[in-house]
Amino acid sequence: MTRSPLDFLFPKGEEIDAIEAKLPEDFLWGGAISSGQVEGAFEEGGRGRSHLDWIRYKGPQDPSNFMLAADYEFAHEHEEECNFPNRRGIDFYHRYKEDIALMAEMGFKALRMSISWCRLFPTGKEEKPLKEGVEFYHNVFRELHKHNIQPVVTMIHYEVPDDLVDEYNGWESPELIKYFTHYTSFILDEYKDEVKYWLTFNEINMVCAVPYLGGGILLDRSKRDWNELTHQALHHQFIASALTVKYAHEHAPNCLIGNMFNLQHMYPLTPSPEDALRAHFEQEFNMFFCDVMVRGAYPDWIKGFYKRHNINIDYVDNYEQILQEGKVDFISLSYYLSSVVSVDPAKREKIGSFIRRNRNPYLKTSDFGWQIDPIALRISLNELKDRYNKPIFIVENGLGAFEELDENKTVNDIYRNAYLRDHIIAIKQAVGDGVNVIGYTPWGCIDLVSCSLVSMSKRYGFVYVDADDEGNGTYDRFKKQSFNWYKKVIASNGEDLD
Ligand code: BG6
Repeated sequence: MTRSPLDFLFPKGEEIDAIEAKLPEDFLWGGAISSGQVEGAFEEGGRGRSHLDWIRYKGPQDPSNFMLAADYEFAHEHEEECNFPNRRGIDFYHRYKEDIALMAEMGFKALRMSISWCRLFPTGKEEKPLKEGVEFYHNVFRELHKHNIQPVVTMIHYEVPDDLVDEYNGWESPELIKYFTHYTSFILDEYKDEVKYWLTFNEINMVCAVPYLGGGILLDRSKRDWNELTHQALHHQFIASALTVKYAHEHAPNCLIGNMFNLQHMYPLTPSPEDALRAHFEQEFNMFFCDVMVRGAYPDWIKGFYKRHNINIDYVDNYEQILQEGKVDFISLSYYLSSVVSVDPAKREKIGSFIRRNRNPYLKTSDFGWQIDPIALRISLNELKDRYNKPIFIVENGLGAFEELDENKTVNDIYRNAYLRDHIIAIKQAVGDGVNVIGYTPWGCIDLVSCSLVSMSKRYGFVYVDADDEGNGTYDRFKKQSFNWYKKVIASNGEDLD
């Protein structure tokens, strides 16, 4: 009788996909939000404008976070006529105590949030921060600790002070490194005793996919083409992040500091070796954003890619040493969907695109066409472990849906429970495979302004916020059905998922 190698691993004939581990007792359950999508109060305390404040809502058919110069200038010239949902957020600035109390009721151990750079340094260039902004975050952290919730803080979640966009075209310029590290060293010094977990850049790969969103960059204000421009900007972000990590290691040694990238699992559309090769390099491209921050060096293949595509980067002096000295302590990621890729010219898409047209016939999609694939999360977690062997924090995942309050003032979002349940099972299986996952903070734990649609219509929360795309509504909070489900999940440390 022949034996397969798996028989040694699973002598009782267990199925490889059935193995689930218990999560560690100190697993960081919680939720995630960002300052630019929740705070509102865009003019309070002297806060400056961020580039997100200029993204208009133009109606459901016209998502507009992809801005070019004309759009940006139009928004500045016609400010009074425009609808800017990020400026309103969900009024977290005034309601944070109520929101944190709801999170505490669910049993959150962690809240992933971000600090708004321009709430502290309005133009990004000031020497000293605004007192009111500094105090606001102290108050939020105090409130979280009162409820035994750990703040997990992203230093920049897409919010570039608008003056730096206008003057420097955002992260295209190396000048931003100096201003950003001034800001990050300040927040590390100021909050290091209140915040243990830090992330430098939210979804660092977004600067290449959506340059205005990820880097405050107007493509048509630059002499460089898209690829060269965005990889130059990315280089500046890598350097700014590495210098921040080094500073944290030297000045805030009790803190842990991670990267944050958008994880994309790629399948070949067909079993053809050509499609498989394409999928391999798309995956490598996705991992490249992690490689530089975790290993502290550019991989060789990307330098070849730059050469072949005539992408000429002005590397910052001494960059190899800076990257080596600024390696992160843990990996954090957002995960929403998997994609299929192909070499077929009719189905080929730009490398690194976030949302793809090609469909995987084995997967269902969300209301918004995002392919739901918990198994790819397990595969990717295993790959990340093999590649880096670092703790992994899943700081975004979730299901965006169109929702309305019913007559009982709730939303019967059982589909959300199902989505999250499947992903939690995948995480437990990955932990069973030996991956060190330290926490899970689903995105938009309270409804907030959608990033891609710049509106309230796409909702992720356990808590419904009564606000619409035009800013109408009471902004009152209502628990959805998933609220109690998630509470039970946390209380049972992920054992009771029904
Ligand atoms: C991530 C971002 O890309 O996905 C969040 O970090 C964003 O800011 C989230 O909101 C979900 O995307 P969307 O477009 O559904 O809001």
